[in-house]
Amino acid sequence: MCKSKGMFVQFTVAIDGPAAAGKGTIARALADTFGMAHLDTGLLYRAVGRRALDGVPPVIAASTLRHRDIARTDLRTPDVAQAASEAAAIPEVRAALVAFQRDFARREGGAVLDGRDIGTVICPDAEVKLFVTADANTRANRRWQELSQSGVDITEAEVLASIHERDARDASRDAAPMVAAQDAIQLDTSTLTIDEAVAAAQAHVKARQGNQT
Ligand code: CDP
Repeated sequence: MCKSKGMFVQFTVAIDGPAAAGKGTIARALADTFGMAHLDTGLLYRAVGRRALDGVPPVIAASTLRHRDIARTDLRTPDVAQAASEAAAIPEVRAALVAFQRDFARREGGAVLDGRDIGTVICPDAEVKLFVTADANTRANRRWQELSQSGVDITEAEVLASIHERDARDASRDAAPMVAAQDAIQLDTSTLTIDEAVAAAQAHVKARQGNQT
């Protein structure tokens, strides 16, 4: 969806891919460079998963999600990620989160959304679609470093197993499975530095912006 009415410009960048592939880092950098808003949609599912762990049925948790649930600082743990992935397979949970994500994607000034189904289900008309991947060992190593730095006691092998389990569930579910949109650009970050991955993503956005002026 891209409409230009005076200063009102809608431009959506959809970034999907498996766990810890670098979606968030790339999404934040693009938002920063191009002055767009950024939504980490994984946080919505993590907030639902967190509430599910607290005993709230996932469908209720999703349909009554509040800003303070998403702002919690304890959403980045492996157990919350697993609970998020389980809740994310429930169609009613996903349905409850669609309107918020689509509204966000159409906001003035453009938006970058990262997740699993942004280019396929949430924003099939996004101007730029990236499917960011990296080999599983690289992703596990990156996530293990992040978790270790934030004080989570976990081995790299446990992180790898957890990522494999989540990717398998996310890719095989019936409701909005994790899959690259047909028109998505594949970006494998396995051998790229953060700067190189960001530069590649920026080039795709610039090229698309150039086509529209
Ligand atoms: O950061 P990481 O890539 O490990 O995960 P995340 O993006 O925070 O997503 C956590 C979980 O939420 C995923 O494993 C998916 O099951 C689910 N999710 C989803 O189903 N759809 C999205 N658009 C975003 C996340």
